[in-house]
Amino acid sequence: MQPDLVIREARHEDFQNVLRFIELVDGDFYPPLSQRGDGGIPERIKASLARSDANYMIAHLTEPEESDLLQGLIAMVGFTCKWQHEDDAYINFLATHPSYRKHGLAGVLHGRLEEMLVEKGVSRVYLCTWSGNLAAMRFYEKLGYSVYSIILNDRGNGINTLNYRKGLGTLKSSMSAKQ
Ligand SMILES: CC(C)(COP(=O)(O)OP(=O)(O)OC[C@H]1O[C@@H](n2cnc3c(N)ncnc32)[C@H](O)[C@@H]1OP(=O)(O)O)[C@@H](O)C(=O)NCCC(=O)NCCS
Repeated sequence: MQPDLVIREARHEDFQNVLRFIELVDGDFYPPLSQRGDGGIPERIKASLARSDANYMIAHLTEPEESDLLQGLIAMVGFTCKWQHEDDAYINFLATHPSYRKHGLAGVLHGRLEEMLVEKGVSRVYLCTWSGNLAAMRFYEKLGYSVYSIILNDRGNGINTLNYRKGLGTLKSSMSAKQ
């Protein structure tokens, strides 16, 4: 059963929680985000919160424990709009808190992001993962993403980067489908 949740875009005052959350799941990424050559986790967050067309969508518990350093933050997706074209977006981060996995949370969060992207006129979403990340591969494929390129040994140790994309229905076409 899913806990009572609020899903919303992150604000500047969420910076510390976003940072702690990424640090918590850092080791689940290959290579860890903290070891990538783009300036580290704080710079990654700052760059995202500073842009009007990039942000994190967060899911947090409505009633977090007072002692919870994450203030109830249990899942998060990072996105950049206008990635390569005016009408596309790139998902640069997705994770669920290890204690809340396999309860459908990432699916709910991604669904909310997708609705928002459609409203913004985004018609194609891109993301990537790495070979061996079966949870993410199954997750994305279940949501309708398909692999459009593979970069062999991109992450060393025989680990490949898998580039995925998915077309979104436009708001106009989804509205006319309902009529
Ligand atoms: C990938 C991840 C975000 C999934 O989050 P989650 O909240 O547990 O996912 P959901 O419960 O919404 O799962 C939806 C579907 O994804 C797939 N899935 C999720 N976890 C899976 C697992 N461990 N093994 C296989 N399939 C899995 C299943 O198809 C599942 O549907 P089902 O429950 O009907 O079988 C989570 O495992 C995670 O945070 N991993 C570490 C960070 C990471 O790898 N992020 C992606 C980097 S590109």
